[in-house]
Amino acid sequence: MHYFEYRNRELFAEDVSIRELVREFDTPLYIYSARTLRRHFQAFDSAFQGISHLTCFSVKANSNICVLKLLAEMGSGMDIVSGGELFRVLKAGIDPQKIVYSGVGKREHEIREALLSDILMFNVESRQELEKINQVAGEMNVQARVSLRINPDVDPRTHPYISTGLKKNKFGMDLEQALSSYQLAMPLPYIQPVGIDCHIGSQLTSVEPFLEALERIKIFYGQLVDLGMEIRYLDLGGGLGITYDQEDPPHPAEFGRAVKDSLKELDLTLILEPGRVIAGNAGILVTRVLYTKKTPSKNFVIVDAAMNDLLRPSLYGSYHRIAPVQEKDGSLCYVDVVGPICETGDFLAQGREIPEAEQDDLLAVFSAGAYGFTMSSQYNSRPRPAEVLVDKNEVILARRREVYFDLLQLEEQCF
Ligand code: LLP
Repeated sequence: MHYFEYRNRELFAEDVSIRELVREFDTPLYIYSARTLRRHFQAFDSAFQGISHLTCFSVKANSNICVLKLLAEMGSGMDIVSGGELFRVLKAGIDPQKIVYSGVGKREHEIREALLSDILMFNVESRQELEKINQVAGEMNVQARVSLRINPDVDPRTHPYISTGLKKNKFGMDLEQALSSYQLAMPLPYIQPVGIDCHIGSQLTSVEPFLEALERIKIFYGQLVDLGMEIRYLDLGGGLGITYDQEDPPHPAEFGRAVKDSLKELDLTLILEPGRVIAGNAGILVTRVLYTKKTPSKNFVIVDAAMNDLLRPSLYGSYHRIAPVQEKDGSLCYVDVVGPICETGDFLAQGREIPEAEQDDLLAVFSAGAYGFTMSSQYNSRPRPAEVLVDKNEVILARRREVYFDLLQLEEQCF
């Protein structure tokens, strides 16, 4: 459910016409709906009502400060994976006690920065990382709260690039290794093991893999209790999927019910790290048709957005619905929607049936609010698009469009 809707055959973001936004901000343009973000956060967070929990938005999905602030105002915490994300969330005014820090390769300075800010906890992914955190915390004479990330070897049945909880993945530790790592952690003077963490993958469209993981975690938790450990948190990660096309993922309420049911006998604070389910359908990317081109084998619609702006179709073959901003009658046509970048893999859609597009038409690429702008680059020296946040009839320029000077700013010493 989102608030990008047609009114008199013209696409609106909440109460603002997309055409008006494009007139002011040009294309390609990322547009987020504040009302949709709030609604999604609320739907997700309220699914865990009745149990002690903290919803930490996964910043990698959408790290725009305006978006982070909006979510923080609703009580969201943040799941970060780098010093850069820590910097962002602190700038957005997030309470450090609502920050969890995941990722397999935390650097020493990043660990120091997180300890200085007194974040809630580190999700630790290896023994060496545990020892490194102990060393850095020791130098600072502070205690680091940690959860160890376990890899429960559960198949999330999603795209291989975004499945993370299988034995062959680089993430976390298998149950045996994790148990010995907790034993290693117990006597470490600057480490306080307070939780168990797990994240099995992204864009999951059923609750079963989560429940399978929980079953394994519960047994594991029992083993930690037997060791005399005081575990207070269970971080289940993110991963709940959304509808891009025909997918039918469980509603957050159903996900919440199933998780609460599985955890009912345990006295733990649940942490969740949703990204896509909050931001994915709260954003679109608007692009303009530059040219159309018919070849003997294909019809191409060449647009001004490219893989540098939205990488998902090129990287994962992901589907994003594409529709004209101004609804039209007329014939449908099978096309490849492609960008100006010099790569065959630069497409937003392939073999897609859309109303025949003409030069200067505006197209909306839906479900682009998560892993859209955050995965963008300047490849082919293309300045990144602007981001705007619409709240009813209010428009906030959340990030200005990059200009040519931004491309060279860090090379000034070479001019
Ligand atoms: N927590 C951890 C430790 C994660 O690694 C991730 C995502 C999340 C939470 C949030 O997952 P979500 O709720 O958004 O599924 N670029 C890919 C997605 C990569 C996800 C990486 N980790 C895409 O565009 O589909």
